[in-house]
Parts: sequence; structure tokens; C-alpha cells
Amino acid sequence: MPTALLLENIDPVAVELLSSAGFEVESVHGALDEDDLTAALDGVDLLGIRSKTQVTADVLARRPGLAAVGAFCIGTNQIDLAAAAGAGVAVFNAPYSNTRSVVELAIAEIISLARRLIDRDRALHAGVWDKSATGSHEIRGRTLGIVGYGNIGSQLSVLAESLGMRVLFYDLEDKLALGNAQPCGSLEELLERAETVTLHVDGRAGNAGMFGAEQFARMRRRSLFLNLSRGFVVDHEALREHVLSGHIAGAAVDVFPDEPKSQGDEFSSVLRGLPNVILTPHVGGSTQEAQYDIGRFVAGKLADFTRTGTTTLSVNLPAVALHGSSAARFALLHRNVPGVLANVDALVGEHGLNVDGQVLATRGQLGYVVTDVNAALPPALLAALRALPETVRLVEFPPRT
Ligand SMILES: NC(=O)c1ccc[n+]([C@@H]2O[C@H](COP(=O)([O-])OP(=O)(O)OC[C@H]3O[C@@H](n4cnc5c(N)ncnc54)[C@H](O)[C@@H]3O)[C@@H](O)[C@H]2O)c1
Repeated sequence: MPTALLLENIDPVAVELLSSAGFEVESVHGALDEDDLTAALDGVDLLGIRSKTQVTADVLARRPGLAAVGAFCIGTNQIDLAAAAGAGVAVFNAPYSNTRSVVELAIAEIISLARRLIDRDRALHAGVWDKSATGSHEIRGRTLGIVGYGNIGSQLSVLAESLGMRVLFYDLEDKLALGNAQPCGSLEELLERAETVTLHVDGRAGNAGMFGAEQFARMRRRSLFLNLSRGFVVDHEALREHVLSGHIAGAAVDVFPDEPKSQGDEFSSVLRGLPNVILTPHVGGSTQEAQYDIGRFVAGKLADFTRTGTTTLSVNLPAVALHGSSAARFALLHRNVPGVLANVDALVGEHGLNVDGQVLATRGQLGYVVTDVNAALPPALLAALRALPETVRLVEFPPRT
């Protein structure tokens, strides 16, 4: 029976899905260090981790039997992706599963900032009855400027519009505007027109410090600012100055350049203690629903990969999905050099089989071809495919009808 090892308290739905896909699943609460991980991977086909387990080139080299790694989170920096690809180990993550959670937090914060809820709450907890409409606004009819119109930005656009906001967005790429949202030709244009600016850009290196004193100064007076994307994109000193001067009427920040490593570690930031500023400990995507969806999504990708060879949305292998039924199927991950496909098909023909279906894709140094044939795979064909000088990994699959 194939086995799966799941570390770091992954949602039980992943255990359920992998068990029903025929895996014997061991689930461990915490992360493992390199040596313990290598030992634990003996005889394991699938590994599931979150952000704390490091899957290094060394671990991969010492456990050649591992077929795939599921990162039950968004980031994959903890995995040596190139080494995994070179070893024929597919890596999957969950790029979209927590987007709704981030969007809902952003909506909650936009309303909270517009109503100065945090200050009202703090005052009342301190015993001060401060009933006043001054500085409190509805969000209906106000203009939201979304910087970065990707998975999160575009979903926020739809929800904000349904609450009656006017939506502008700016993205480096040409993006389809959803609903009545209007694209801006430049970040400056967005800053000059929006009353609330929210950042949802990705973590590319060029975004370091992209939002600083100049951008805050360009924003309309008494506007609101949110960052739920990456900590390093915003100059927090500049944000502090603009909040203290009153130019920015409120801010919500979920991500920080230096975040504490462990639960309970002290958090230091120049934004602490500012009026109408909401600080949250990088919890934009942290909901039970997101954890469930991550478990379901990644376990599904792992099960599909082991059952059919499908690599759609793999972060390190060429993306291939071959649909249909056949007597037998094999998947060959190989070095991306000319002539491999011709050699594969010649070998299939020499062994008296016909190709029923075939898909090939390449990614950098690697090619991946999944082939359906009309009869069971003769051991001699498998041996010949394995012996091709370009072969990285060959997998055969049971018949699917
Ligand atoms: N706070 C959290 O807990 C949490 C959770 C999930 C994701 N995130 C972060 O949210 C951000 C957005 O996630 P996503 O899934 O929507 O990413 P995405 O890749 O789908 O979208 C990012 C968009 O930003 C655009 N972009 C990049 N740099 C830009 C710039 N300088 N100016 C304008 N547009 C720019 C890209 O073209 C892309 O359309 C990421 O940084 C991600 O790490 C945070």
C-alpha cells in the first residue's frame, strides 16, 4: 500500500482524501528537522508539509522513493524546487485557497477604519463613552483603489462593489476589469482618485519599498490605507508620519518586514499605538475555512498526480493533464532535449502497442510526457524507457476505464 506522511497539523480532510485514494496515511502534529525527516521518509511516497519543514536537496537525494510533496500552504520557499524537479518529485501548493479569507478581512477593515471602530472600542473598554458621528463614514459611494488586481485584488473588487463602493485598480499587467471596476493607467492616477487604497501586489523583488513617502503624499487627504500583501512593500516610517500628520486618516496592516518567528514573541513596529490603525499578526489568510480548503485542494492534487500523472498547477514540473481511458498509461519525466518523444513512440511501436493518447509539456530543463496505450505495458518496454539516457523518472499507472 502506498504511504503518505503528513506533518504540521494538516487539516483532517487531507487524511480522509488520501486514505480514500488508497494511501496509508500517517499524520504528525509538528514539523521535523532534516535528519528526522529523512528517517521518517523511509518507504514514504507522498510528503505533506506546511511552512516549517525544510525539504532540502539533501533530503531529496537521500529519499529517491519520494514521488511528490504537498505544501499545504501558499509559499514553497521551504522546498528546494529545482532539486525536487531534478529528482522527479512533483510539488503542489494551494495558491488560491485562502484568497476569500484575505478579502473578507480587507472588507471588515475598510468598514472598521471608515467608522473608526478601533478607537471607539478602545475608548469604551477604557470606560469612555464617546458617542459621535465626527470622522465616521459609510463606505457606500466611496472610491476604493486596489493596487494589484490578481486573485485577491480582483475578488475584493467584486465584494467591494456589491457593498456600493466605486472601484479603481492598477496592475502592472493588463487585467480584465470585473463588474464596473475601472483600470487606472498609473499608480499615481489611482492614488489621486481613490479615498481608500489597498495593496494586493505579489512578492517580486522589485516591489520592495514600492510604497513610501512619495506615494503616501500623493494619496488624497484623510484617505485610508491597507496592506495585506507583503511586509517589505511599505515604508512603515513614512506611514507613521502620514498617520501622525493626519494626512492618512487610518490604516490596517497585516504584514510586516520583520515578523516574530514564534507564537508569543514580542512584536515591535513603529506603527504600534497609532490612532485608527489596525494591526493584525499576518492572519489575512488564516481561517478554518481556508485550512480546510488548502487540505482538500492539495490532497486532491497529490491523489490525482499519483493516480493519473496529472501535474496541473505543480509549481516545479511541466503541466500535463491527459484525459480519457486506456488499457495502460505511463508518464516519463525526462531531460528536455530534441528527439525524446520520437524515441518514446518508436519504442512503443517496437513493442507492438498503439498510442491512444499523449500529451507533452516542457518547463526549463525538463520535459514530461504522459502516454496512453492500447494494451498492458510489457516489462521490456518499461525497461527500455527507463534505460533512455534522458529519463529522469518513469511511472506506470494501473488501467483506468
Ligand atoms: N495576509 C495574508 O495572510 C496573505 C494571504 C494570502 C496572500 N497574501 C499576499 O497577497 C498578495 C496578493 O496575492 P494574490 O494571490 O492576489 O497574488 P497574484 O499573484 O494573484 O496577484 C498579484 C497581482 O499584483 C500585480 N502586481 C505585482 N506588482 C505590482 C505593482 N508593483 N504594481 C501593480 N501591480 C502589481 C501582479 O501583476 C498581479 O496581478 C501576495 O503578496 C500574497 O503573498 C497575503
